[in-house]
Amino acid sequence: MNSDSLTPRGNWGSKVAFIFAASGSAIGLGSIWRFPIMVGLNGGAVFVFAYILAVILIGFPLMLTELTIGRHTQKNPVGAFKALKPGTPWKLVGYMGVFTGVCILSYYSVIAAWAAGYLYKTLFGAFRGEITWAVSDQIFSSFAANPLEVLLCFFVVIALTTFVISRGVKGGIERWSKILMPMLFALIIIMAIRALTLKGAGPGISFYLKPDPTKITPKLFFYAVGQAFFSLSLGMGTMITYGSYISKKDNLSSSAGWVCFSTTLVAFLAGIIIFPTLFATPGINPQEVQASTGLMFQVFPLIISKLPGGYLFGVLFFILLLVAALTSTISLLEVPTAFLIDEHNWRRGKAAVVIGTAAFLLGIPSALSNGASPFLTRIGLMMKMDLVFGNIMLAVGGLFITIFVAYAWGIPQALKEIAQGNRSFKVKPLWVFSMKYLAPLAIIAILIFTIILA
Ligand code: PFF
Repeated sequence: MNSDSLTPRGNWGSKVAFIFAASGSAIGLGSIWRFPIMVGLNGGAVFVFAYILAVILIGFPLMLTELTIGRHTQKNPVGAFKALKPGTPWKLVGYMGVFTGVCILSYYSVIAAWAAGYLYKTLFGAFRGEITWAVSDQIFSSFAANPLEVLLCFFVVIALTTFVISRGVKGGIERWSKILMPMLFALIIIMAIRALTLKGAGPGISFYLKPDPTKITPKLFFYAVGQAFFSLSLGMGTMITYGSYISKKDNLSSSAGWVCFSTTLVAFLAGIIIFPTLFATPGINPQEVQASTGLMFQVFPLIISKLPGGYLFGVLFFILLLVAALTSTISLLEVPTAFLIDEHNWRRGKAAVVIGTAAFLLGIPSALSNGASPFLTRIGLMMKMDLVFGNIMLAVGGLFITIFVAYAWGIPQALKEIAQGNRSFKVKPLWVFSMKYLAPLAIIAILIFTIILA
């Protein structure tokens, strides 16, 4: 047992350790599984550009804000709002974040369970040799529709997550991220290069990188901002919680910048793998499958089977994908756990087990909504959960956090905190402009448009 599990609150070892841990939270299924689906759903390249804009103009500034609130208060989201504006309803934003975290954890862990299932399928040779679309599609649909297999993997994911969180911050999160994230990155680059050199990759590359202005819609921006929040772990206080473990000597703005950059790069490369491969694969109509829930799982085996040493490559890739997913699930579980420790004096272990169990029970319907239960499949429950919690709730949470920093806590107070460890805050104009006007107005406009158009 490490010393962190004895004291409920730990601290990051260094700035680099923090960047790895926060990138571990950010980089995960949001970039590799969810981003390509959003690209497929929203007209290709126009979405890629809207997403990058959303990261720079809203995501990065909001991440800096969350880290600042976290480091200043040294608290979980509920405690942070209570400390900064005692006796006001602002703490509700924190409660909303805790609740959103449990709900996202519930269905996100189902996708992580798919990654776990793909790991043992690859290990047992399901993807040996040349894989066709028909085979890959069949493997995915029969796996996702098998309740026993999926629920078992789902249980394992939640159990692993709960175990890591119950052991505390340093011992758990840091150790995992430092070695494995760079490895994942290397594998993704190799696959991206292979995908780009496929015969017939051209149409996929154009779909992904050549914007078609007729595809621009208000909804696109809603999804782009939602995707930016989701992939950067923003809008529910994860970065407030992670920020609470950062040292006063660290530069918050450059830390946030690194996390945003690495996450966006991974998402971008995931698309570079998926679309050229999809468009170059015979026997499918890309338009029909480009927004499928299982897109990543259907397409990645195709490219892996085209690499030399495909078997080992596949095994390694799914190990790393699972780890990337787990570094995100542990950050989702850390928010409600830190809340119960700080606000209700629970022991870390008990808090983690109780929330983990709740997320498991809540996630069962999502686990069954991809073929196992005809009713839940028809409603598309998992993607509905994702729309409500992964898009809308994060956007609403992000909106309140920006309004809070700009108009309740105050820009000067936040600037004082940012100045510690960062004498020359170069992107100050962008941050101030985004918090005061751009982020709140854009999110409000997007939410209104979407409600009217829905
Ligand atoms: N950012 C994670 C991913 O992209 O996989 C998912 C996530 C983690 C979202 C933590 C929100 C969060 F608070």
